[in-house]
Amino acid sequence: MVDYRSKIYEAVKAVLPSVEKDDVTAADAFCDYCVPCFKLAKVMRKSPAVIAQEAASAVKLDGVGVSALNGYLNFTVDREALVKDTFESKLGEYKPLNGKTVCIDYSSVNIAKPFHIGHLMTTVIGGSLYKIYRALGATAVGINHLGDFGTQFGGLISAFRRWGSEKELEERGLDLLLELYVRYNKEAETDAALADEARSWSNKIESGDKYAVGLFDKFKAITIEQAKKVYLRLNIEFDSYLGESFYVDKVSAVEKKLKAKDLLKISDGAEIVELDGDGDGEKMPPALIRRSDGASLYIARDLAAAYYRHDTYAFDKCLYVVASHQALHFKQLFKVLELMGEPWASDMVHVSYGMVSVDGMGLSTRHGNVLFLNDVLSAAVEKAQSIIEERNPTLENKAEVAESVGVGAVVFDALYDGRLKDKNFSLADALNFDGETGPYVQYTHARCVSVLSKAGGAPKKKIDYSVLTDDAAYETVKLLNTFDEAVYSAAVKYEPSIISRRLVKICQAFNRFYNADRIMCGGAEQDARLALTARVEAALEYGLSLVLLDAPERM
Ligand code: ARG
Repeated sequence: MVDYRSKIYEAVKAVLPSVEKDDVTAADAFCDYCVPCFKLAKVMRKSPAVIAQEAASAVKLDGVGVSALNGYLNFTVDREALVKDTFESKLGEYKPLNGKTVCIDYSSVNIAKPFHIGHLMTTVIGGSLYKIYRALGATAVGINHLGDFGTQFGGLISAFRRWGSEKELEERGLDLLLELYVRYNKEAETDAALADEARSWSNKIESGDKYAVGLFDKFKAITIEQAKKVYLRLNIEFDSYLGESFYVDKVSAVEKKLKAKDLLKISDGAEIVELDGDGDGEKMPPALIRRSDGASLYIARDLAAAYYRHDTYAFDKCLYVVASHQALHFKQLFKVLELMGEPWASDMVHVSYGMVSVDGMGLSTRHGNVLFLNDVLSAAVEKAQSIIEERNPTLENKAEVAESVGVGAVVFDALYDGRLKDKNFSLADALNFDGETGPYVQYTHARCVSVLSKAGGAPKKKIDYSVLTDDAAYETVKLLNTFDEAVYSAAVKYEPSIISRRLVKICQAFNRFYNADRIMCGGAEQDARLALTARVEAALEYGLSLVLLDAPERM
């Protein structure tokens, strides 16, 4: 593929040195590429319109038209050349991250807590980034940093012994654990003995008491088994399930390093690292490594985990896909590593995201009003099933398609807005076949498959590129031409929504083409238009897989 963006960037930079590569954006209605000149106005003390005007006559580019309009530099490529370029490159062969390793910490569920809708964002953003990095050639390491350590598990054991039984645990699994957790929190408010009892059980887990550990391991297995059912539905995988408890005995090595650098201070009997850093412009509170009673803290285990990941995977980047309310935690974590002099501290990234609500309702585990993710998915599948029943009653594998469409609708919706935006879910919106949704993209994909199968497959002949230069076809081709760039940009911005939005754009453009240009018109035109349909079909399938969706052939 000709890298028009780099070509244009180099040529513009020669004239406007402060232009950055990200300023060169692709594919809108007026041109193939453009560079807005607004942010240059301040540095250059000229109006954007004048900057664009002057640059348009100074930029030298072979085979690319340059013009200025309202403060934009617009570039138009020879249409036929761009069509040819698109069809002569293979989809998914762009591997700019070959040889890189990226650790991605996502989903990271807590033992004995229900897998509720609040976990959807971390799970699908992380799961999608995992696919995206792999597609670009990187080695991705998916890590489920289990929340399997803490005093609450002592509480759970005492609640289990008081109000539960092995038999009930067998039958009701996570439902029972949630009920016990809620009841424990409620009764502990008035019964002080409960907290003491809980503490003694949590000590027993830590000291390796056979009964306590055995029970806890059972809770753990039940939680993971439940989570795996959800991951299967979401097309998500992990390479590691090492949780917090794995790092407890590795904290002392971190303390040793901190001491050697003279960073470990004692304050009221607790071990802390003072941070003069810049938590949102303020001084950051110190990182609490170990409490005065000897218990290690969350950040200490995360420090140990960071070293472990660095030693084990030699990562180029280590991502943490975690809600924005843990922003301070990660700032502190990265700052401690920086103070420790680790050059890789700057390769750690908190991939944050906004709050989730459902139909306007907030969520809380502690009070028991939770929406299980699996139930939300099933509700979406049920809805999808009834929509399919109405639209296509003779479809063969309805249940299978409904699963792909229903689950896909929820996932696509979660990945459609920029991740930092707060998210309110509505099943009706997510399942709108005509909206900017997963089902819309899946439906357009199925339409391509159907066109191709009616035509007896994609043509094998060499195609006449000039056929695809009319506005409707060219619009679609342009979006396909820069699809690899969109995938790359999703990776470096940790933003799967760049892909889901591009998919919707491709579908909208293709559907305009489908209505404007008759495909089965015979001759070379038919061949070229079928070739475009095949290319769209492949791009949609590939793109859907990157945002975790199936691409059913019929629906
Ligand atoms: N289990 C934690 C929670 O639910 C998230 C863990 C995120 N990962 C990490 N390395 N701290 O809040």
